[in-house]
Amino acid sequence: MGYQGHFRVWRGDADGGGLEDFTVEVNEGEVVLDIIHRLQATQTADLAVRWNCKAGKCGSCSAEINGKPRLLCMTRMSVFAEDEVVTVTPMRTFPVIRDLVTDVSYNYTKAREVPAFSPPKGVAPGDYRMSQVDVERSQEFRKCIECFLCQNTCHVIRDHEENKQSFSGPRFLMRVAELEMHPLDSADRVDEARSEHGLGLCNITKCCTDVCPENIQITDNALIPMKERVADRRYDPIVWLGNKLFRR
Ligand code: SF4
Ligand code: F3S
Ligand code: FES
Repeated sequence: MGYQGHFRVWRGDADGGGLEDFTVEVNEGEVVLDIIHRLQATQTADLAVRWNCKAGKCGSCSAEINGKPRLLCMTRMSVFAEDEVVTVTPMRTFPVIRDLVTDVSYNYTKAREVPAFSPPKGVAPGDYRMSQVDVERSQEFRKCIECFLCQNTCHVIRDHEENKQSFSGPRFLMRVAELEMHPLDSADRVDEARSEHGLGLCNITKCCTDVCPENIQITDNALIPMKERVADRRYDPIVWLGNKLFRR
């Protein structure tokens, strides 16, 4: 049965804004995005929200619900009590454009900074067979829908705007790890992760993994293995000696 739900929605733009209270009809089986759409249809026609698939696959509808980073279209109203106030705010780590829509271009900048897959010269399409274990490793990372909830959550940039220059965030460190683990990639991703993408700033809090709607084990399967590879290279006495002798 339907009921009247209580919502608090952030409204404003780059110059500022605040929370506004609304009472909106809620029906069985609905998700928070349904409520935002009903708000637009009945009370606030100009409420800005970014969405596309309503199926948890396009990664557009990221926001914060009661302070927790989530997809609006994958958060069922049934997880809240009927008398609970549901607060919907834009992602906090990125600049607000309007209402629930943020400017996520930081992520596109960081994506461009990861050099593309680089197979060795002379390997023609079809010449190479990957073993299943290598396929599965990168397949987990490729489930990413680029919702940027992990980027929004990581305290390294959420609480420190100044780190945005040097830190690419969990999503793009994961991309570097995916390429590093690819048996055919010939670029040096280990030094790149540390020096270009700020891997050292990640202190493995795992908050990124906790909010990933695709349940990708970002920390355990991408970030920690990359840190291990960096440590192996930097502290392995043979590698250290090699660097001393040949890289002066
Ligand atoms: Fe979203 Fe997960 Fe991809 Fe991060 S890794 S952008 S949380 S799907
Ligand atoms: Fe940030 Fe995830 Fe590391 S939240 S600190 S990137 S484990
Ligand atoms: Fe596509 Fe929510 S609308 S993920």
